[in-house]
Amino acid sequence: MKVRLASGNDLRAIIAIQEKSREAARWLLNDYARLLDDSGGMILVAELPTLDPPRVVGFAAFHRIIDETELFNMAVDPDFRRQGAGRALLVEARERLLMAGAKRVYLEVRQSNKPAQALYYSVGFAIHSLRKDYYRDPPENALVLGWELNPPTVTSNF
Ligand SMILES: CC(C)(COP(=O)(O)OP(=O)(O)OC[C@H]1O[C@@H](n2cnc3c(N)ncnc32)[C@H](O)[C@@H]1OP(=O)(O)O)[C@@H](O)C(=O)NCCC(=O)NCCS
Repeated sequence: MKVRLASGNDLRAIIAIQEKSREAARWLLNDYARLLDDSGGMILVAELPTLDPPRVVGFAAFHRIIDETELFNMAVDPDFRRQGAGRALLVEARERLLMAGAKRVYLEVRQSNKPAQALYYSVGFAIHSLRKDYYRDPPENALVLGWELNPPTVTSNF
C-alpha cells in the first residue's frame, strides 16, 4: 500500500469512496479542494500500486493549527478494507504531522462506529471526551479521541 499526498486529480476518487462509505462525513468536492489550498490542510490517499493503473482506495483529510491537528474525515473503499490502507494512512500522517510540528490529533467518531474506533485505538488514539447528541441523521453521541503523536518514553530509575 502506497500513501502519498493528494492532488486535485484525486478529488473525484475521494468523493467516490466517500459515497460508498455511509459512516464517513459528507463533504463536497469543493470542501476538499479548499483544504488542499489551505496551508494547514493535508489530504493523504492510499493507492494500490499493484493495480494497473494504480487505484486510490482510501483517503484521510486533516487540518493542523500549530501543534494541534483535527482528522476531519477518512474512509477506505469497502472492496479494499482490512488490507492495511486505513492504518497506512494514519502511520504516514503521523510522520508528516510530526515533521510539521504537530503534537496531537483529535477526531470525532460515532459511538456505534466500532471498526473505525478499532483502527484508531490500534495506532494509539485514546478516549478524550464524549459529546452528547453531536450527530444528526441519525442522532448519536460522538466520542472525541485524541492521539499523542510523541508520547513520552517510559524511563527506568536504574
Ligand atoms: C475505518 C476504516 C477507515 C478502516 O479502514 P481499513 O483499511 O479497513 O483498516 P485497516 O485494514 O488498516 O485496519 C487496521 C486495524 O483496524 C482495526 N479494524 C479495521 N476494521 C475493522 C473492523 N471492521 N472490525 C474490527 N477491527 C477493525 C483492526 O485492528 C485492524 O487491524 P487487523 O486487520 O490487523 O486486525 C474503514 O472501515 C472505513 O472506511 N469505514 C467507513 C468510514 C468511516 O467509518 N470513517 C471514519 C469516520 S470517523
